Amino acid sequence: MTDSLRLERTGPVVRVTLTRPEIHNAFDDSLVALLADVAVTLTAEKGIRVVVLAGEGKSFCAGADLNWMKRMADYGHEENVVDSVAMAKMFEAWNRLAAPVVGRIHGAALGGGTGLVAVCDIAIAAEEATFGFTEVRLGILPAVISPFVLGKIGPGAARHLFLTGERFDAARALEIGLVQRVVPGAEIDATVDATVQSLLAGGPEAQRRIKQLIPEVLGLSPAKARSTTSETIAAARASDEGQEGMHAFFDRRRPAWREDD
Ligand code: COA
Repeated sequence: MTDSLRLERTGPVVRVTLTRPEIHNAFDDSLVALLADVAVTLTAEKGIRVVVLAGEGKSFCAGADLNWMKRMADYGHEENVVDSVAMAKMFEAWNRLAAPVVGRIHGAALGGGTGLVAVCDIAIAAEEATFGFTEVRLGILPAVISPFVLGKIGPGAARHLFLTGERFDAARALEIGLVQRVVPGAEIDATVDATVQSLLAGGPEAQRRIKQLIPEVLGLSPAKARSTTSETIAAARASDEGQEGMHAFFDRRRPAWREDD
């Protein structure tokens, strides 16, 4: 698609690959804008069931392009805020992408690259992958990515890892909930494929609603949670997708919406 991003669609699955391997897929303002556009477009497009996010070369993503960060220091405060808001909107767009997002995490995922891991619904890491909120070692901080990272790892692990900037391995990333699976590097593609198949076996509208429901429910009072969840399941039961799923179960056949092999 461009020099820094590649999109490949295979039926209902879209693979988005960062392609700046010479700088470990670090992103600058133009890649941020592209990534934001892609997330919005994929959300609007019909028939997309799963998005896979990956990086080309040695690393998944080394975060913000430090040449861009250095350059931004010469601009005024207002310009820096506008630039950072654009980055925040990009992470929000990926976090809210309608279809499930599977992250293929190999090599280094640092700074904003770890932020990209956090906005994946299911992140699958190679055993050799390394992570780190390295910003503090550069005298800056993981501000824009913090809402998404905190949603995954919570404040306890965040205090430690944000404050020290320590690099950590895939086992620790799994322990704190940043990634959902760790596999030997040679098995990462097979595991990503199996996860995609697993997602294609579920109801697409149900999955879209699940993605909205999780953040929605977390902020609700018990009474509001009761009404929201009851309305949600009532609508799902009566929906074409829900009816088809339940009829298919009793008819011992695949629901029409299943797209796994
Ligand atoms: N922004 C811009 N360039 C970057 C970069 C970044 N975030 N991360 C790496 N690069 C560049 C290096 O400057 C180097 O460029 P050069 O070939 O012109 O010298 C090139 O990528 C290769 O990096 P190098 O450090 O030699 O490779 P490595 O395999 O030894 O280590 C990393 C790879 C990703 C572990 C290491 O480069 C690193 O720690 N990068 C910093 C990541 C970071 O702190 N990100 C947070 C940003 S807020």
